[in-house]
Amino acid sequence: MAERAKIPPDFPDTLRQLNYLIERLQVAKYLEIGLGNGGTFDNVNAPEKVGVDPQPWNPAVRDLEGVHLLTSDEYFSRHRAAFDKFDLILLDGVHTAEQTYRDFVNSLRHAHPTTVWLIDDVMPSDVFSAIPNHAEAIVRTENLGSCHGSVMAPSSDRNRIDASAHRSD
Ligand SMILES: C[S@@+](CC[C@H](N)C(=O)[O-])C[C@H]1O[C@@H](n2cnc3c(N)ncnc32)[C@H](O)[C@@H]1O
Repeated sequence: MAERAKIPPDFPDTLRQLNYLIERLQVAKYLEIGLGNGGTFDNVNAPEKVGVDPQPWNPAVRDLEGVHLLTSDEYFSRHRAAFDKFDLILLDGVHTAEQTYRDFVNSLRHAHPTTVWLIDDVMPSDVFSAIPNHAEAIVRTENLGSCHGSVMAPSSDRNRIDASAHRSD
C-alpha cells in the first residue's frame, strides 16, 4: 500500500528545531496541545505522539493516530489518572496567559523530572499581541495578519512561573 503523504508543516523552522530536540534528547513521547493544520504534529519524529485539539483547522488531522478531538481542559480532565509521561510537551493551544498557565499546570501530572516544555508565542511580537483578552486581540490584529501571543514569564524562582500580560504601550 502506498505511504500516506504527510501534511506539510506551516512552520518548517519550528519543525526542524523540534526534530533536532527530539533527536538530541532522545524523546520517546511527545505531547502537542493545539494542532492547527497538523503539519508539525504529523512530521515530528517522536516514536509516540499525542495531539489535542477540539477543532483542528485541517480535517485530515482528525484521522491521525494519537489525536484527541478535545479541548486541553477536557483532555487533562479525562486523562487525570493516566500514567502517561511525556518527554517533550508543546503548548500551542489557546494563547491566553490563563489557559496556557492551566495547560502547563495540568501537564505537570504527565511530566517526569527531565520533561521539556516548549510554549509558543511567549513574547508578544507587537502591542496587540500583548492584549490578554483573546477575542479583543484577534479583532485588533485581524487586519495585520499577526497572531496574538500569550505571555508567560519565567520567574527568577525556578519553581514557579508568572503568567501575566505585559503591554508595551
Ligand atoms: C496556533 S494553532 C497550533 C499550531 C500547531 N501547533 C502547529 O505547530 O502547526 C492553535 C490551535 O489551537 C487549537 N485550540 C483552540 N482551542 C483549544 C483548546 N481549548 N485546547 C486545545 N487546542 C485548542 C485551535 O483549534 C488551533 O488549531
